[in-house]
Amino acid sequence: DILIKSLYRETKQYIGKEVKISGWVKTVRASKAFGFIEVNDGSFFKNVQIVFDEALENFSELGKLPISASIEVIGEVVETPGTKQPFEIKASKVTKVGNSSSDYPLQKKRHTFEYLRSIAHLRPRSNAFSAVFRVRSIAAYAVHKFFQEQGFVYVHTPIITASDCEGAGEMFRVTTLDMENLPKDEKGKIDYSQDFFGKSANLTVSGQLEGEIYALAFRNIYTFGPTFRAENSNTGRHASEFWMIEPEIAFADLADDMDLAEEMVKYIIKYVMENAPEEIEFFNSFIDKGLKDRLNNVLNSDFARISYTEAVELLKKADVEFKYPVEWGCNLQTEHERYITEKIYNKPVFVTDYPKDIKAFYMRINDDNKTVAAADLLVPGVGEIIGGSQREERLDVLEARIAELGLEKEDYWWYLELRKYGETKHAGFGLGFERMIMYLTGMSNIRDVIPFPRTPGSAEF
Ligand code: 4AD
Ligand code: MG
Repeated sequence: DILIKSLYRETKQYIGKEVKISGWVKTVRASKAFGFIEVNDGSFFKNVQIVFDEALENFSELGKLPISASIEVIGEVVETPGTKQPFEIKASKVTKVGNSSSDYPLQKKRHTFEYLRSIAHLRPRSNAFSAVFRVRSIAAYAVHKFFQEQGFVYVHTPIITASDCEGAGEMFRVTTLDMENLPKDEKGKIDYSQDFFGKSANLTVSGQLEGEIYALAFRNIYTFGPTFRAENSNTGRHASEFWMIEPEIAFADLADDMDLAEEMVKYIIKYVMENAPEEIEFFNSFIDKGLKDRLNNVLNSDFARISYTEAVELLKKADVEFKYPVEWGCNLQTEHERYITEKIYNKPVFVTDYPKDIKAFYMRINDDNKTVAAADLLVPGVGEIIGGSQREERLDVLEARIAELGLEKEDYWWYLELRKYGETKHAGFGLGFERMIMYLTGMSNIRDVIPFPRTPGSAEF
């Protein structure tokens, strides 16, 4: 078989030649003497048009092919200048190799993304999702390529873990305890020492802490894997299961961390634009008219870098009414993040040095003793896509911080030993892969960039 992608990419070399393709029927139109079948073979989001006529012995059967039936086609590739597609296949033989029921839900017409979500087992067959998930695959490859080319070691941090990296308590517990009959300790609390691992365990909210272990041995590492958060936020940017890319670099500070993040984001964009140009064109035409210009601008500009304190000043002077008022010390909401990156800068912006009270325990305390060496990357259309920081490497400062936050020192004994044995300046960040895909495609709902979305109240399959 020849793949449709090759027919589109190397059309010239196939013109006038006989090819064999196999795929699924997308549409059929037939008149008395001839007809057209649009077929897709999965290799590309575009279809190929097959022309057939009454010279074929099964001509009348072909006119009645059901949508999504699978077929094999042998025919000649002919140029069709001036039409929608650059070529078509003039069939000498079309064989139906598999049937499809006539109530197939994806008939040729525009469907809403919402409807398509309700048939998540069929939606990858639609043009838009074919393009989204191919871009997702190519972007994932770009991530590995970027880090591997620079010698970063890919570390598989655990999915099941006993630690809570973000300290936000948004963890899914992993347990084999009998829910009807939970064992209790003397204080009447659930006794997790009787659980499977002899302690309480959960699905990871971030591979960072374990990533630090490897950075302090291999210098530069990254993780790229599934991440789970039991956040009860029903937004278009939050999923309960998402993928995160987390590099961790030793002998590096926050500025090095931001340099790496900026380089990585640009690399992924460039790689996807070069390797999925037709898909990007498709998104630019049908999903987000400004997409290509915006992505090109990103490649050609330096990301802005402002401190949280400056950001708050800018927001206070803003000419719009925010739903959540801004005060120094508050968390930046999506509306604030988007105002900064879209209205003030119109490009990606790093916001740095957040108040320590709204950030995680592991971030390095700045000399002002009020802020931490953190950096979030905000981008137009999405908001925060990256959260990162320089890590607190000073054992005494970290111990004091853990105590201040009421965390159990024993739970972090190994994390503290990383400072005790070979204290090293280091930093890292986490890129939400789905948010990156939203940025690359212009898709506006996270449910539409992950193959099997899990969100509060919804987990099909
Ligand atoms: O800002 P976050 O919480 O940072 C961390 O987890 C750090 N431990 C990362 C590190 O320094 N190694 O999450 C990082 C990114 C966010 O910027 C966002 O893009 C994404 O992960 N993210 C989510 N994406 C989808 N759904 C959710 N519920 C997400 N929560 C975070
Ligand atoms: Mg964050």
